[in-house]
Amino acid sequence: MESNALSIDFAGLNLPNPTMLASGIMGYSAESFHRIAKSGAGAVVTKSVGSQPRTGYANPTVVQAESGIINAMGLPNPGIDVFTEEIKFSKTILRVPIIVSVFGYSAEDYAAVAKKAADAGADAVELNVSCPHVKQTGAEIGQSPKLLAEIVQQVKAAINKPLIVKLSPNVTDITVLAQAAVEAGADALTAVNTLRAIAIDAETQMPILANKKGGLSGACMKPVALRCVYDIADQYEVPIIGCGGVSNWRDAVEFLLAGASAVQIGTAVADDIEVFQSITKGVENYLRKKNARSVKDIVGLAHRK
Ligand code: SIN
Repeated sequence: MESNALSIDFAGLNLPNPTMLASGIMGYSAESFHRIAKSGAGAVVTKSVGSQPRTGYANPTVVQAESGIINAMGLPNPGIDVFTEEIKFSKTILRVPIIVSVFGYSAEDYAAVAKKAADAGADAVELNVSCPHVKQTGAEIGQSPKLLAEIVQQVKAAINKPLIVKLSPNVTDITVLAQAAVEAGADALTAVNTLRAIAIDAETQMPILANKKGGLSGACMKPVALRCVYDIADQYEVPIIGCGGVSNWRDAVEFLLAGASAVQIGTAVADDIEVFQSITKGVENYLRKKNARSVKDIVGLAHRK
């Protein structure tokens, strides 16, 4: 096995290992990104930021589901102008790439936020075109190849950093959206955001979340996310980040075999911030056991005929 078997060049980003903090976990502060990086993450993705501050939805915004959680936060964020200060500070203390997740209400809006993030030092931009429950952003865009292509083109023209598009699982055929994103200039894809879901309280006989519906994440999501990665990798040669239910090294390996070159970890971080280290160690042991020289050697192996 190579000495730096875990390191990976992902769409131009130098990752010390294939794990990343998923967007939405640990908020916006440079200190919390630093804590995550010290816990072993190969990169951090910020919570999504828009052009203006947003307070988000009223509580409850999160509810426990079986083997997962359902959230509907409503994209609360301080707005890109405030957040650029945090990006700049993060760059002085982080030794791993910081990827800024961006949302908007039009192609111009997305491009303007992405440009500010990139100018402030973001190593890459991840487009959130897949929030399942905030109107005029997210769902509508993530389900329309035409709208998606328009946004990706404009953002691509506005920045000179790698552009990652986070796709929605709430579609009939994810490869159609993947194709639209790649043809419009996406450098990489994250598959996937949360699955549209609802929780109802038998006592009150009402939906539990203030927003009624939200997005499901956690272990129960893994088979769906894995299938999405597999479907995309089956058709396109594009770097993919697997996201959805990764909580141990075996999950991570399964995503690599399906065709992802890196994985994002979200819900599992809330239970154990050291999860990055245990996944990295487990992947390293797996590579050794299988006589693989590097992570790259096992990417997509499940597609062998
Ligand atoms: C939220 O802030 O409500 C979640 C964002 C997302 O799912 O993209």
